Amino acid sequence: MKLRDLSGLSLRGKYVLLRDDFNVQILDGKITEGFRIERSMPTIEFLRDAGARVAIVSHLGRPKGIRDMKYSLRGVAEYMKLPLIEDCLNKDFLGNMKDGDVVLLENVRFYPGEEANDAEFAKQLANGFDLFVNDAFAVSHRAHASTVGVTEYLPSYAGMLLTSEIENITRVMENPKHPVLSIVAGSKVSTKIGVLRALIKLSDTVIVGGALGTTFNYALGEKVGNSLYEPDQKDNALEIMKYAADNNCRLLVPLDKGVGPVFEPNAPRTDKDMNDIADTDVIIDGGPKTAERDVIEIGQAATVIWNGTVGMAEWMPTWSHGSFAIARAIAENTRNGRLHSIVGGGDTVAALDACGVMDDITYVSTGGGAFLEFIEGRELPGIKVLEQ
Ligand code: 3PG
Repeated sequence: MKLRDLSGLSLRGKYVLLRDDFNVQILDGKITEGFRIERSMPTIEFLRDAGARVAIVSHLGRPKGIRDMKYSLRGVAEYMKLPLIEDCLNKDFLGNMKDGDVVLLENVRFYPGEEANDAEFAKQLANGFDLFVNDAFAVSHRAHASTVGVTEYLPSYAGMLLTSEIENITRVMENPKHPVLSIVAGSKVSTKIGVLRALIKLSDTVIVGGALGTTFNYALGEKVGNSLYEPDQKDNALEIMKYAADNNCRLLVPLDKGVGPVFEPNAPRTDKDMNDIADTDVIIDGGPKTAERDVIEIGQAATVIWNGTVGMAEWMPTWSHGSFAIARAIAENTRNGRLHSIVGGGDTVAALDACGVMDDITYVSTGGGAFLEFIEGRELPGIKVLEQ
């Protein structure tokens, strides 16, 4: 895949519409985790240094086409020390911009035309700009006005973060060093069937965990109590196990679980083997035997791909054991030069951050859904339109 990139462009004085993904966690108006913003900075700095006049367009959350200030990007503008333009269709601000200036436009999903990829909305959004740069890998799986629609009206290019995401993920998917271990967890089998199949094809071993793993336990006839899982995905889980066997891939399911009486952060924890789980128990984390097994598997791998936490990692410290054991083992083996590691997904990246090991991972993707779709080999519409 060869994309049109920023090299060789003359940018001084040009009005650039830059799509970033600043869909970050905000609590009481303050950003709790700025990973996506930090990773967007090289392109912003590049455009600024080249003398472009840059308006950044982003979404935050899912306000469903309504101006709901709960989803305002004001907190992001303050964090980045950028002026916020309240209405992304009013271009009066362009007349006041000087070379190297950067502004942030208010949440583009305040307009129904964004998610509908409405042509008239895209045209109005593009109006006044000379070119469009997409650096929002994390939302490039959405065919929206600000990822796809505007490219009908402006010469369009890939930003540096977008390019680096594609290069780093493609390198692992096309030519990984074996043995390859993939760890796939999270809540649903139903949303990860495609990615599981792709990773089974690529990997020597796949570990399934979290509520997704519980569905596999259930499919195997093991006890899962009063937990979150998908009984209607039993056949899909069995079919995926068969697909793994047919492709010479070991598929490893959870061995034990951390359970509580209720699904709450401060519920008291007991660790139980699958067959000791009572009907009233609620699974909230992987158990210690599973964590130990996962750490051993990571130690034997040359490449690890990880998406999805194996429990409620944000309910620290009681329910983060399983995910943190994985995060620390991947980090340690990568630091020692024994492992090439690639991690993606909001909760997963938050777990790395909570363990303080973000910098030890070979590549951390800013994508959640986009990371999964890219791994699955699907065509991402926001990237397709940038191909040469
Ligand atoms: C993400 O956080 O995965 C992206 O920003 C996409 O958000 P969406 O799932 O609301 O489209």
